[in-house]
Amino acid sequence: MKVLITGGTNGMGKGVAQILAGIDDQTHELIILCRSKELGEATIQEIEFATKNNKISMVLCDLAKLSDVRNAIKEIRSHHEFIDGIFINAGLGYAAKRIETEDGMDSHFQVNYLSHFMLTLNLLDLLEKSENGGRVVFNVTETGEIFWDDIQMKNKWGYEAAIHQAMVAKRMFSERLHNLYKERDNSKVSFIGFEIDKTVWTNQINIIPFFMKSMATLMKLFGTFISMEECGEIMAPLFTESREESLKKSGKFITWKNVAFVEMKHDEYAADQKLQERLWNISLDLCNDKETVQIAERLT
Ligand SMILES: NC(=O)c1ccc[n+]([C@@H]2O[C@H](COP(=O)([O-])OP(=O)(O)OC[C@H]3O[C@@H](n4cnc5c(N)ncnc54)[C@H](OP(=O)(O)O)[C@@H]3O)[C@@H](O)[C@H]2O)c1
Repeated sequence: MKVLITGGTNGMGKGVAQILAGIDDQTHELIILCRSKELGEATIQEIEFATKNNKISMVLCDLAKLSDVRNAIKEIRSHHEFIDGIFINAGLGYAAKRIETEDGMDSHFQVNYLSHFMLTLNLLDLLEKSENGGRVVFNVTETGEIFWDDIQMKNKWGYEAAIHQAMVAKRMFSERLHNLYKERDNSKVSFIGFEIDKTVWTNQINIIPFFMKSMATLMKLFGTFISMEECGEIMAPLFTESREESLKKSGKFITWKNVAFVEMKHDEYAADQKLQERLWNISLDLCNDKETVQIAERLT
């Protein structure tokens, strides 16, 4: 399998990269999308050393900049004729304050959602060319709403509201893609939302507000967290399983409980097709990118 992982330099993305690189006789090829050249190179070296897999490359892209996303799309398309899987993962967890990107957006919204919206749409045809059944796995959590009148949260920002808005946007995007693809004959691409059931001990610990950091450190002593490698072991099958198995999960939000993937409870809000379409159109406007609009027109 050839898998693109956004945010493969830390946390859940790195955990998935490490496990995928080491299994199945090191046959899986990985493309790590990251914002730091140094960290990207160090991560590749570390994973290559640990797994002896030398099929790992990187694409530089700061997801807080739409211009970087455009360049990353070009670079990926110039090097690859197909992709088997994408892990939509990179993101901020609980940021300490609102940070506005150079595109004038709330960084949670842009990094966790909008840049991935543009990236995914522009790589769909590469997923369609996968002989193993292309799949996109979205790293999501439950709950959240879109602040339609203030999507960039200029007036009323809160760290929980910001991350939850970005997460529900990802779930709505995933479900809309599934709905659009299921109407096509012979659809071979699946779109899956995955929520990790346990909290993963990741670099987020260094970013979250101080009081949460103290609480988390205490909770770690009680074994509340799992490691990023354990997270990678749980998630790896989503990228290696057969097309048929993957398609069975398409359009669903799943988690891992008692050694099996199980469906999460139905989310009325994310499933609302009118809201999905509204967000889709707003996202296209915000991307302000001709090719992305053309791809969207081809799908709808
Ligand atoms: N940890 C959990 O238990 C948990 C549970 C549910 C959901 N999540 C969600 O999962 C996602 C990943 O979380 P994590 O815990 O693995 O966090 P993490 O350890 O901080 O890793 C985040 C990854 O995203 C990358 N990233 C952040 N901003 C970026 C940008 N502007 N451009 C490109 N890459 C960027 C980071 O790059 P750098 O290495 O350069 O920082 C890093 O590779 C987050 O959205 C989080 O909310 C986490």
